[in-house]
Amino acid sequence: MLHDFPSRVDEFIGNLIESSDPSLVPFLVADIVYSWAATIAKKYNLVNVSFWPAPALVFAINNYYYDHLSTNGHFPRTDDLVYSIDYIPGVESISNKDLMPYLHEVDTTTVTHKILIKAFEEDKKPTYAIGPVNLSSECIKTRVPKSLLFEVDCSKWLESKPPGSVLYVSFGSIVQTNKQIIEAIAQGLLLSEVSFVWAIRPKIVSSIDDSENVLPAGFEDNIKDKGLIVPWCNQNAVLSDPAVGGFLTHCGWNSILESMSCGVPMICYPVMYDQPTNRKLVVDDWKIGVNLCDGISINGAEVASKIKQLMCEKTSVDIRNEMMKLRSILHDALAEEGSSNRNFDQFIQDLKHKMHV
Ligand SMILES: *[C@@H]1O[C@H](CO)[C@@H](O)[C@H](O)[C@H]1NC(C)=O
Repeated sequence: MLHDFPSRVDEFIGNLIESSDPSLVPFLVADIVYSWAATIAKKYNLVNVSFWPAPALVFAINNYYYDHLSTNGHFPRTDDLVYSIDYIPGVESISNKDLMPYLHEVDTTTVTHKILIKAFEEDKKPTYAIGPVNLSSECIKTRVPKSLLFEVDCSKWLESKPPGSVLYVSFGSIVQTNKQIIEAIAQGLLLSEVSFVWAIRPKIVSSIDDSENVLPAGFEDNIKDKGLIVPWCNQNAVLSDPAVGGFLTHCGWNSILESMSCGVPMICYPVMYDQPTNRKLVVDDWKIGVNLCDGISINGAEVASKIKQLMCEKTSVDIRNEMMKLRSILHDALAEEGSSNRNFDQFIQDLKHKMHV
């Protein structure tokens, strides 16, 4: 990302400009972490635009934390204490344990730190809240797959299940977990007796190669018709299926938005990046989900009790009510006259102004 990619993008943009009418490519949008993209934009006389795909809360923390956390002695971390941080502009008091894991690391010279420090040093421009982009009608219509893995169609299997009875389990397209977590979830699913679709993609456990089964011995025989295990599937299709009533997720931001859009409450097991902070939003602030386990250790019995709590209509009624409220906020944002279109129009207007057209 830092050494090899910039020259390729530079060459790509150069070719693009050479081969077409330059007025067709007047600005360059790049993910915030590609801070070098602004330099390439400058070289070709393009306006540089940064894209931030995660929640505003995480943006705000990143944007201010180097200054404020270090002035307050909270970064780099020097102890294991739990404390609340109430001095980040625009952010309500937040516990340090809910910050992104890279803020807890003692070694702040890693590639992640380098990339983020550089990205947020430069990024103090006007911001526009546009989206959720992955749920915009254009994005849904074109159905661009979010992974190169083949998507197994689960609809036939789901057809035989009662409404809201199935738990969907997936850790997204990037993060890896360990065998103990997989075993605890497998045990929890069996004990809960809840039906499930489980997407277990290759390399979900880094220490196990593709030929080995990551699931506990005998698990697949025990589940009978209770569970469907697939390497990958179309997440939006599964979440919007009426049979699905819960989502055990690693709390990637796209997953959370897709779950909210379909009104499916969540069981949260965050792993890295922004996921622990996203968990705080889902469980503590919005109350549309529960933790996989409340303590530090993950065990099958507690997993089963959390699954039953979320999937049972009686014990999840408050969570489902909150979810319906948030779902309509999300859909309102995407409506014709909603905040997403309004902010997008403003963004285009300001951009034109910058480009003097
Ligand atoms: C990118 O755009 C911002 C805002 O317009 C500007 O301040 C900054 O100088 C630009 N960066 C480069 C490298 O041109």
